[in-house]
Amino acid sequence: MSIRLGDIAPNFTANTTQGEIDFHEWLGDFWGLLFSHPADFTPVCTTELGKTALLSGEFQKRNTKVIAVSVDDLASHNKWVPDIEEVNDVKVNFPIIADENRVVAQLYDMIHPNASEKTTVRSVFIIGPDKKVKLTLTYPASTGRNFNELLRVLDSLQLTANYGLATPADWISGDKVIVIPSIPTDQISAKFGVEPEVVKPYLRYVPGNVVHK
Ligand code: BEZ
Repeated sequence: MSIRLGDIAPNFTANTTQGEIDFHEWLGDFWGLLFSHPADFTPVCTTELGKTALLSGEFQKRNTKVIAVSVDDLASHNKWVPDIEEVNDVKVNFPIIADENRVVAQLYDMIHPNASEKTTVRSVFIIGPDKKVKLTLTYPASTGRNFNELLRVLDSLQLTANYGLATPADWISGDKVIVIPSIPTDQISAKFGVEPEVVKPYLRYVPGNVVHK
């Protein structure tokens, strides 16, 4: 069954390269990023997992725990991790789920049989501290994901969750941001300490530096 935004992220227990976990307990009060890759010892996945490890400080800054999954077993993951580390000159410091029985893949609808019956597509789920799904994304096996884009989405989601701010098209950190419609225009200056730029009654900007994260 497909997972929609706002759903509670399905819980599971699984074996990982860092031991057995209960997913919700492992997340705790953190944000989470769960992403699938088609198979171990494949070229695109080797770059993706390396990039994720290289960005681990950025995920930490955003209170976000990262976890990967594929339908290969633990022995395979453990053999592959040294390759990822060598190729990307980095330590893989996040867990990789061994989902050889496809429990997680099925719970999260990560196998799209018309693309491949045997392996997962490249799915991403961002999960909030409330365990609700905040983003879903699906990429084909042959296209590596843009992990800086995932950090950008995390920044946007956290601006909304913490400050009632939204982000416009192509926003990057530091750009001006949009005040969400539920905040009346006459309350903006008191809340953010600046006069908004009112483009339309429903489109009100404030500078990106009104909040310091
Ligand atoms: C991979 O690296 O996972 C991959 C590359 C090309 C096609 C399919 C998968």
